[in-house]
Amino acid sequence: MSKMPLPSDLSVGQLATRAGVPVSTLHFYEAEGLIQSWRNPANHRRYDRRELRRVAIIRVAQSVGVALSEIREVLDRLPRDRAVSARDWAEAAAPWREMLDERIALMTRLRDQMGHCMGCGCLSVEACPLYNAEDRLGRTGPGPRRWIGSPEERA
Ligand code: FES
Repeated sequence: MSKMPLPSDLSVGQLATRAGVPVSTLHFYEAEGLIQSWRNPANHRRYDRRELRRVAIIRVAQSVGVALSEIREVLDRLPRDRAVSARDWAEAAAPWREMLDERIALMTRLRDQMGHCMGCGCLSVEACPLYNAEDRLGRTGPGPRRWIGSPEERA
């Protein structure tokens, strides 16, 4: 991509420093199509300052377990030919709402109920005879049935 350089454009080193990631991470993000650069007349890679926000979103989303493919889906919905508005960001991220709500609920359970029966089949917690007598939840499928089974099973 070529364009007129702006004083606010960043070198890869400047972007890495400001974003708090190694240059190699930026190259990876770029290879994955998550961020874009262009070449100045000296053939140096330059980044629009707005790429900082994309990198920040990628890092935060990754830190809470959002897959790169899911991040890419959101970033691909954003315009590249103009400044991205707050509304653009909100609309692009809307599909994440349900997924993030589910993760928040699961993380809250993990934080608050680690000592309770989760229906995993171990029958080793005091509450297991009450919530999973004779491992009956095991007949509904594998894993911690009370946490990640169907909503009916969690009730
Ligand atoms: S905690 Fe594993 S079955 Fe109850």
